[in-house]
Amino acid sequence: MKDTQPTLRFGVISDLHVTDWASTSVFRKALCWYRDRGADAVVVAGDLTDHGILPQLENVARAWREVFPGDSAPDGRRVERLFIYGNHDFEGLHYRDKWMDGAFDVHGIPREDAEKMQLSAIGLGKAWENCFGESYAPIYRKRVKGFDFIGGHSAWQAPQGLAEWFAAHGGELDPSRPFFYFQHPHPKGTVYGGNAPGSDDGTSTRVLSAYPNAVAFSGHSHISIDRDDAVWRGAFASVATASLSYGYFPDAPEETAASRAAALGWEGGVPFAQGLLVEVRGNEVSVRRRDFARDEDIDRPPQVV
Ligand SMILES: [Fe+2]
Repeated sequence: MKDTQPTLRFGVISDLHVTDWASTSVFRKALCWYRDRGADAVVVAGDLTDHGILPQLENVARAWREVFPGDSAPDGRRVERLFIYGNHDFEGLHYRDKWMDGAFDVHGIPREDAEKMQLSAIGLGKAWENCFGESYAPIYRKRVKGFDFIGGHSAWQAPQGLAEWFAAHGGELDPSRPFFYFQHPHPKGTVYGGNAPGSDDGTSTRVLSAYPNAVAFSGHSHISIDRDDAVWRGAFASVATASLSYGYFPDAPEETAASRAAALGWEGGVPFAQGLLVEVRGNEVSVRRRDFARDEDIDRPPQVV
């Protein structure tokens, strides 16, 4: 007999690209939506900030605290924060184009000052500990209602030491129930096909292929999850997380409004903000896709992975 009540429910989003406080509005809306649906945790699969500077990470932390003070929902349940860094958090200040420069201008601070505020200059671990009040590790594990979540801070490739981490700890994972893994780039050869933009070099796919109970989440590409290939089931399950800030449309010509500037409020932009609500019933994991720009479900039934 199938369980009907979910035993675990959590949100998954990525690519917040937060700049000033106003830019956290979609993130806060998504958090409130998850809060009101009983989420036990929220995963953010990298690119918390746009330029990788401390004031932006502080805004991310403040937004979380506003919705989940003390990591709690109003009914008192604990809501686990499952965030990781992405490439913009590591080095975003050095990516320059007209859109990124425009986004940076909201801070009204000179570039030379911003250099010193970079998370990589302060220390990625130190900045993390200051903002979130928890110790930093390149790969970490947290347990939520008996389920393992493994997050790996990662820029363009799988987190450093991933194979070693699983060699040391993989045996501790219960093979009889799903576990959840998240990194910033897509595991190569899973979602969006073999040559998908924003994929790693194949390391994570190789490592996770030993775990049929693994469910991986990844962002980075900003490609819409309103596609069949946003969910992949092979040796393990892999699910794309789109973006909460702007979309990327690989079939559109570069440097057009449709290909790049889809952020809310950007000139010529198309509002774009998508995420997932994941529910676990017994050992069954289902994924519901949500459009946070239009406040409606993406027109697909929840999919079992
Ligand atoms: Fe991103």
